[in-house]
Amino acid sequence: MVPNLPGIPAGALTASRLFCILPHRSGDYPIKEKRMTANERESFMTDANLKVLIEADRIQARVRDMGRQITEDYRGRNLHLLGVLKGACVFLSDLMRAIDLPLSIDFIGISSYGASTKSSGEVRITKDLDKSLAGKDVLVVEDIIDTGLTLNYLVNIFKSREVNSVEIAALLDKPERHEIDAHARYIGFTIPNHFVVGYGLDFAESYRNLPFVAVPEDPGMLLAQK
Ligand code: IMP
Ligand code: MG
Repeated sequence: MVPNLPGIPAGALTASRLFCILPHRSGDYPIKEKRMTANERESFMTDANLKVLIEADRIQARVRDMGRQITEDYRGRNLHLLGVLKGACVFLSDLMRAIDLPLSIDFIGISSYGASTKSSGEVRITKDLDKSLAGKDVLVVEDIIDTGLTLNYLVNIFKSREVNSVEIAALLDKPERHEIDAHARYIGFTIPNHFVVGYGLDFAESYRNLPFVAVPEDPGMLLAQK
């Protein structure tokens, strides 16, 4: 039986319309909460599971500062930015536009050997450099320093290639996780020991396109890219 409600003509309500406007009382209508997957949600970027750790504006401001510092330090030198694929691609493309100097760029592709959750530091090169590093002032651009093993391994390779100098610029650093000191000259943000995604950093190849850095509240609800 559909009751008469103030302001609504008698007979205008069907039982299903009534269900839509009355508050749902859990005793009457057992409602099962279903959490939507990232694929089902309307907005990928405003997913409530993503707790923003560093807002997009803060990242942009910090990257501009880093660019200014690098501009001062490398004036008159032969600056060559070397991005570590794929995580550093977003950071590198913002950073290079904040450096007011002539420079060149290249990328190296690496994949870690062994279990993906634990960095061994031993890496396989999946895309080598296009040009020799001889005579260049190499600035290795990385998304994050976790154990530090990958960067340490890479820097040692580059040092044996007749470079002028090798330094590191990392957007994020997790000092609690260091197993070796990677000696990064430029660090964007020091963060606690959380798994983070966004601004180039991925979970199973997804979330690199977020303009901010976020911590997933429930890692089990993250979307893996197939
Ligand atoms: P490391 O050798 O342990 O320093 O490994 C660093 C690499 O692991 C980074 O370049 C990232 O690709 C990846 N990584 C480390 N921590 C995170 C994280 O919190 N989110 C996403 N990727 C991470
Ligand atoms: Mg990386």
